[in-house]
Amino acid sequence: MSTTYHEDVSPGSGTLPPRAGYARSDAMSLSLNGSWRFRLSPTADGADYSFAAPGYDSGAWDEVAVPGHWVLQGHGAPIYTNHLYPFPVDPPRVPTENPTGDHLRTFDLPARWPGSGEAVLRFDGVESCARVWLNGEELGEFKGSRLPHEFAVGALLRAEGNVLAVRVHQWSSGSYLEDQDQWWMPGIFRDVTLLHRPDGAAGDFFVHAAYDHRSGRGTLRVDSAVPGRVTVPELGLDLAAGDEAVVEADPWTAETPRLYDGELATAGERIPLRIGFRTVLVEDGVIKVNGRRILFRGVNRHEFHPETGRTLDLETMRADVVLMKQHNINAVRTSHYPPHPAFLDLCDELGLWVVDECDLETHGFTEQDWRANPVDDERWTPALLDRAARMVERDKNHPSVVVWSLGNECGTGRGLTAMADWIRGRDPERLIHYEGDLSCADTDMYSRMYASHAEVAAIGRREDDGPPERLQLPFVLCEYAHAMGNGPGGLSEYQQLFEAHARNQGGFVWEWIDHGLAHPEFGYAYGGDFGEELHDGNFVCDGLLFPDRTPSPGLVEYKKVIQPVGIEGVRTDGDRTEGGGAAVRITNKYDFTDLSHLTFEWSFDVDGETAETGVLDVPVLAPGERADLELPAPAYAGRNAETRWTVRALLADGTRHEVAWAQLPAAPRQSPPVAPGSRPRRDGQSVVLGPASFDARTGELRTIGPVDIRQLRLDVWRAPTDNDNGADWQSGVRYGQRWRELGLHRMQHRLDAVELSDDALTVRTRVAPAAQDIALVTAYRWTSDGARLRLTVSVAPEGEWTAPLPRLGIRFGLPAGADSVSWFGGGPGEAYPDTRSASRLGRWHSSVDGLQTPYVRPQENGARADVRWAEVGGVRVEGDPEFWFTARRWTSEQLDAAEHRTDLRPAGPVWVNLDHAQQGIGSQSCGPRPLDQHQLAAEPAEFTFTFAPVPDPGAE
Ligand code: GAL
Repeated sequence: MSTTYHEDVSPGSGTLPPRAGYARSDAMSLSLNGSWRFRLSPTADGADYSFAAPGYDSGAWDEVAVPGHWVLQGHGAPIYTNHLYPFPVDPPRVPTENPTGDHLRTFDLPARWPGSGEAVLRFDGVESCARVWLNGEELGEFKGSRLPHEFAVGALLRAEGNVLAVRVHQWSSGSYLEDQDQWWMPGIFRDVTLLHRPDGAAGDFFVHAAYDHRSGRGTLRVDSAVPGRVTVPELGLDLAAGDEAVVEADPWTAETPRLYDGELATAGERIPLRIGFRTVLVEDGVIKVNGRRILFRGVNRHEFHPETGRTLDLETMRADVVLMKQHNINAVRTSHYPPHPAFLDLCDELGLWVVDECDLETHGFTEQDWRANPVDDERWTPALLDRAARMVERDKNHPSVVVWSLGNECGTGRGLTAMADWIRGRDPERLIHYEGDLSCADTDMYSRMYASHAEVAAIGRREDDGPPERLQLPFVLCEYAHAMGNGPGGLSEYQQLFEAHARNQGGFVWEWIDHGLAHPEFGYAYGGDFGEELHDGNFVCDGLLFPDRTPSPGLVEYKKVIQPVGIEGVRTDGDRTEGGGAAVRITNKYDFTDLSHLTFEWSFDVDGETAETGVLDVPVLAPGERADLELPAPAYAGRNAETRWTVRALLADGTRHEVAWAQLPAAPRQSPPVAPGSRPRRDGQSVVLGPASFDARTGELRTIGPVDIRQLRLDVWRAPTDNDNGADWQSGVRYGQRWRELGLHRMQHRLDAVELSDDALTVRTRVAPAAQDIALVTAYRWTSDGARLRLTVSVAPEGEWTAPLPRLGIRFGLPAGADSVSWFGGGPGEAYPDTRSASRLGRWHSSVDGLQTPYVRPQENGARADVRWAEVGGVRVEGDPEFWFTARRWTSEQLDAAEHRTDLRPAGPVWVNLDHAQQGIGSQSCGPRPLDQHQLAAEPAEFTFTFAPVPDPGAE
């Protein structure tokens, strides 16, 4: 055996051919997970092979948990790069410095282990190259980190004292094929199992279960390498493997994951089958399952846990699927490798469309114009085909898998075509996806990532230019809406394009979860936090879930945007003169199910509080159908309140889980006028106006009632979000950088005049950054009716503004004790101009800390939209028009300076921002900037706030 096997392009040697995966059978198995002896060497040949021999004394070695990554267990450190290889590109060679982990464990066979038959040793995932010995005999070596590998070991097994030795190299030729955007984390990170293979055991088998939507019948045929019988008691089926049966059956879909329990019995083994009947094809230029167009409401899922990396336990996998289902997600792309097989069992059971992606990415070759790209070099083709086969053979019996994906970001090449040809030959019943080849020569769908709304609209109309054959293909966005930090913005506008054009079959948000690794100092670590010399910072934290799997506002927004029930007002304005009362339109946006699993409830809200509730009778609506339903006349008879309807669709299964909702305005808000009446009067160094006092010289507000106010003034700065910092794909502009160049983070406030009149105190200022001739000429006009204080801010830009404003409003400090916040407006979570679909109008309460969104890299967050009034720290503020409310225990400048959450420490006042407007969020961290309608141009503006002292419930 050469010592350079890890640098040779072959996939390995000594392993068994790939075969169908299954979780269990009646054959015995022994898990070899657990604590293993471990020794780390700095190079691939750092230590000799004597450890593999029985009798070796590993007493001085450390221990690691298998499955696991040694870099997360105190040996070495993880490295994060997006697409750059963290080693010189010289395929297939890798660096001499090649952390190599020797793993060792001994085991006895259980007493009941049969005396006859074969045995197979299975590794479900080892990164990136393993060489294996059992009882001193070398079994072989393999690459392909997230793919299963098996060895026949029966002849070597002993009843007691078996010695299993595995040498794992971090870097191998396989690393060139595994350049996914994630942490590099070596180790035996998935299960290791010893499987008994009785005489007459099953070999490979392939369940073909099609569904004919015209006849309502399923066709079942199980091809088996070993003769056997297939039974499905519920369907009365008992047939030989290889034979076909046609039966009345319910179809499997992601919405109705109907599985039939069956069994494949060979002479020596019985394997449970979970059969789902479904047929997927492209017809009339769209993807159809069981005869209907489907819409992917998807996410890209990497396997990730903040403590254990890509080692996931079953509960975590189940939590992922349950969370997806609870958030109306119906599809998952297993970016960018086949997941742990148990995840696919859960997708079958709970219902998700799966795009199963091969463990293949060579993105780093883009740095050299794709020269020497392994996917276009036939020496590598056997390795590519090996990867394709290991994925397809393992996962082919999952009804949830409807699409095979060749890999991600590999450029183009003959190797990909070879993979596609092989897959099509082996499994013509599924579709093929690959994004990186615009010709779509090998694929069944046109796929893109991060295309702009305008482009998606053109594609939807089949007006994009490209090869004519491509125009006939369905379209998916395999990645869009980059969920890095605050955002993504623009989801609702994408969804409209998916619903408007049959060709646009939805997409997969990038991505499911932030890959922030638990860290004693930083809370969650990202690229660079382990001292990597080359890294891509927090680009690894771009998920809809925070690392601890709490949903981010992005997930809450996505759930609302993709809700499968449309709820719109048809007549809600309370106009009773023509055609009666208010009405709501309910549309069934499911692809397969009617709405009988839902109950509908309405409430009538008066000034944000529920006044009446009731049940809405919605007729059974088939997919695509809609109905207009009258809402009952509300008993409420008042005139001045703001009123609205809230209509909600809840699961009827007793959980009352909310699937969809909408609010329909009835009577609009009337803003209460505050008559000027009080006269400002001088009192020594102060000016007193109604409940407030001001500094007479500067015009600065000092107190409202008993509450001290600090530094109230115009504010345009926000701590740039990851999306603000990204480069717009069209113009290359980075707003965060542009804002800093302009100096918007250090605006100076020049005092031009303090004017006292009969009924007002007016303070005139010019707000401008050093070194620039642009400015916002700002007047603060204060009036009072005696009890309340009213501020009208007028802003007029001067000079040529070449960038949007981050925000436009005022900021002030409240005493540090301010804590309890109540408001009437959007909630409960944060919202920005293009992330506000899930913001629900009502009365909300929170602590100041509860308003913060814990983005792994601190940045602007926590605004509440459409706020009518808010109370905090003994002050009530009402807006005209409504405003964006933000409060935090640190300034925007401190937020901006922080790199981790642990840098944020409350010190001093609670800072409150009342914004008239906010710049949109967009998806610029990897994609398009905010749409034009969500840009905040520097333009003349005027807005008003009314302040009054109120008792502070939080004060001691
Ligand atoms: C895509 C890539 C993903 C990820 C994303 C940005 O280009 O396929 O793996 O890197 O960009 O987060």
